Formats: sequence, C-alpha cells, structure tokens
Amino acid sequence: MGNPWPVDAERRTLAQLFEADPARVERLTLEAAGVYFDWSKTHLTNGLIGDFARLAGERGFAAARDALFQGKAINTSENRAAEHTAERGEGAPESVARARSFHTRMRALIDAIEAGALGEIRHVLHIGIGGSALGPDLLIDALGRDADRYDVAVVSNVDGAALDEATRRFDPNATLLVVASKTFTTTETMLNAASALAWMAENGVEDPYGRVVALTAAPEKAMEWGVDETRILPFAESVGGRYSLWSSIGFPIALALGWDSFESLLEGAAEMDRHFRFAEPARNAPLLAAFADLYYSQLRGCETRAVFAYDERLRLLPSYLQQLEMESNGKRVAPSGEALAWPSAPVTWGGVGTDAQHAVFQLLHQGTRLVPVEFVAAIEAGDAQDEAHHRALLVNCFAQGAALMAGKASDDPQRAYPGDRPSSTILLDRVDPASVGALIAFYEHRTFANAVLLGINPFDQFGVELGKQIAKSIEQEGTEGFDASTRALIGRAFA
Ligand code: F6P
Repeated sequence: MGNPWPVDAERRTLAQLFEADPARVERLTLEAAGVYFDWSKTHLTNGLIGDFARLAGERGFAAARDALFQGKAINTSENRAAEHTAERGEGAPESVARARSFHTRMRALIDAIEAGALGEIRHVLHIGIGGSALGPDLLIDALGRDADRYDVAVVSNVDGAALDEATRRFDPNATLLVVASKTFTTTETMLNAASALAWMAENGVEDPYGRVVALTAAPEKAMEWGVDETRILPFAESVGGRYSLWSSIGFPIALALGWDSFESLLEGAAEMDRHFRFAEPARNAPLLAAFADLYYSQLRGCETRAVFAYDERLRLLPSYLQQLEMESNGKRVAPSGEALAWPSAPVTWGGVGTDAQHAVFQLLHQGTRLVPVEFVAAIEAGDAQDEAHHRALLVNCFAQGAALMAGKASDDPQRAYPGDRPSSTILLDRVDPASVGALIAFYEHRTFANAVLLGINPFDQFGVELGKQIAKSIEQEGTEGFDASTRALIGRAFA
C-alpha cells in the first residue's frame, strides 16, 4: 500500500489561514443534529478537505457507509453486520423491527419494575465492563444527576473494592442486580455478579435470582446462569459491545432517566445518523472530524489526541471515547491481513476542564509534542450555582483554544508560547438526552470514517484476547511455561 494521504504543500500557520480567509469560521463550522462544531482552529483548508474527500471516494467510503446502514456484514473478520444504528431506527427494516421489539420488551420490564413487580427497588447495581459499562456510566453520570428515580452504581472492575463501594451504600433488599454482558462469559463480570448475588443472599434477600436482570446477546447463557427468561433483555449479536448503549445495554439508562429520555437519546443519535448519511463530505461533521484526525496523525505525526469536556456532567466522556476509538481503530493490519503502511488510531486521552488546565495543559502549550485538542462544552449551565460558575467555565474553554492557537512571544524562551497549536470545539446547547445522543453518534461515525480511510475493520477486537487467555491459564495451569519475570511476580504475590 503506497502512501495515499494528501500533501499539505503550503503548510500555513493557523494565524495565516485566518488572515487569508475572512470566511474561515463560516466555512469550517457547522451545525448538525443541534450540535455546533468548529474546526476553524485546525489546519484543515478547502484544498485539504477536497483531497481527503477524494481519498474517501477512492477508498469506497460512500459504499462502506451504505453497507453500514443496510446491515451488510461489514465486520468481515467475524462475518457480521454492525447494527447499532438500527437501534435508533436507522438501518435495515428487519433489523430496525427486531430492535424495536427488544426495546418494547425492555420498556415492559421497566413498567413492571415501576409497578412493584420485583418488590421495592431503590438501588440499581449494574455490573458489566467495557462496552457493557462505559455507556451506561457516562449517560447516567451526565443526565441522571437530578433524576431521583433510582440510585445507580456501575461496577466494572474485578477489584473487589469497586463492588464494596456500591454494596456499602446499597440496601440489598431494595437492590436490583443488572448483569450486562454481550457474551455472558466475561470473567470480571461473572465474578462480580456472583459476589453481588452472594451479598444479597447473605443479607437476607430470600430470592436473589428473582432480583436479577440480564442484558445480553447470549440469552441462553444467562438462563444457564440462573436468570429467569422474563428478566432477560436480549439484543442482537450484530450490535458491537462498544456501540451497545442504544440496545438493552441501555436498560439502566432508561430506568434511571425514564423511557421518554431514553427515546430522546435514540432520536438525537438518529438525527446524527441521517446527517452522516446524507450530508455532502465538506459539510459532514463526522467526516470532517475524521479528516482533521487523519491530517494530524498522518501528515503531522501526532501520536495522541486529547479531549477535554468543559462540563462536569461529561467528565466520563474521555474514558468512553478511549474504548470507542482505540478498541475500534487500534489495529495494525487491513482485513486482507496486509500490514498497514501508516499509523492507525492515535492514543485518545483527556480529562475535564478546568481541572486539566492545572495539570496537563503545560505540555499542550509548551511541550515538544503536537497534540490536537478537542473541547466539548454546553452553553446552558447544569448547576444550581451563581451563573458566574458556568460563565467562567466557558470563558476558560474558549481562552484555552485561543491561547493554543495564538501563542505568545517572549525574550525568555521559557516564557514563550509557540502557538499554532490546533483545537476543535464542540458546543451543545445543553446537556440533554437528545444532544448527548447526537454527540455519541457523531463520535461513532467519526470512528467509522477514520477506519474506512485507514483501511481497517473497526468492529472486531482480537487484541484483547491474548491477555484474557493468559490470565485463564495462570489460574488453571499455574506458572509453568511463563517467562521468568511473570513467574517471579506470581511467586511473590501468591506464595
Ligand atoms: O475485552 C473487550 C470486550 O470484549 C469489549 O469489546 C466489550 O465491550 C467488553 O469486553 C465486555 O464484553 P461483554 O459485554 O461480552 O461482557
């Protein structure tokens, strides 16, 4: 594979780009599904966008996108479709119908729980990991702060301290245990679920299994584990784990926020789906974001990208995006098996503003590495404090983008800022289910667009298997056959 990437022959600075084009802001900002995007402080130009759009054409982007929405088996290594958009009503008609029937089943169970069918429920202990935890955790943390329906804890880590933290504050007799696992075989989830059941039994819950809800694409495994069929909420095998919050995996979201909010979340995402599907490349938010990603990773050698949520409610967004982007696009070969001749996904990292300003922004402003930064903020405040708080938050967000770009000269090199450091800004009107749904769908499609241009399959994750297998063989077979360092560590820990 030869180098396909556009060439930034003129390589102008951001200041020069703004100076040369008075309409730069209009050209490089757009609104999609109610979300405002600004790429004007990146080095993208009309020429580069045209080149990337041509490259997308050459790499069969439009056909790949059609195949995604048509439910074709685009996850070729596992011979299945990737049908998260069908959960939002945007997909093959039979897949949309199946998703609707699973949603109807989920809603009926929520109604029954609300009507008291499982006894008094005040606490929801959601156990899952990776895609079976990160989405619910993000959404409930972002949108459930004022909801007083249920107190939800998402427990993912196999470290017992995580479960302890939840069980310490929960009443076992008022707890619903939600076991979320697409495969229903993930060892951390199964161990945490068994321990949670034991906690309920030891604390006087007569029928702990009667308080379990399973969210899974393997209902037969959940039944084998002891969950009654009526409390199993299935979802399609073709919905990938890290794309699954729209499916039954979203059960705790719907429970905590209410069904109407869950529907708004789906509708917000569907609006972004339609934008992604039909907007021309130069005005297509996920595609433009992917062009900027590829510009920095392929043309400027950036090895990381940073996302800062200037909103406490979105503090879990960077961790969510780490799985979405790195588990999807951290691959070194094409589906043909041929090695990529260029880097795949950069490392996604980030944090919350303004805290991050006092911790990691030094490197962004003055370090030797170029890190494209993404700011995510909301215009409307979500707090009960004086409006000065939200104003200060937004002012800081905008100031950082301006400072990264402008830099500052000084006679003292230690006090000089080189500037010309890129950032993009995503502005929501408010943090509500529809806009967060649109935002997450935007990130999904951007990840997909990156994958198509990189020439990789974003929907498998074989890279996570080896560590799991080795953990299993250490448990089952001991240290025989392992390297001396691993043997010594095991010997020291378990002696
Ligand atoms: O180990 C990676 C992974 O397979 C993720 O892709 C997935 O989201 C997570 O584990 C959890 O898997 P499951 O939902 O099957 O428990």
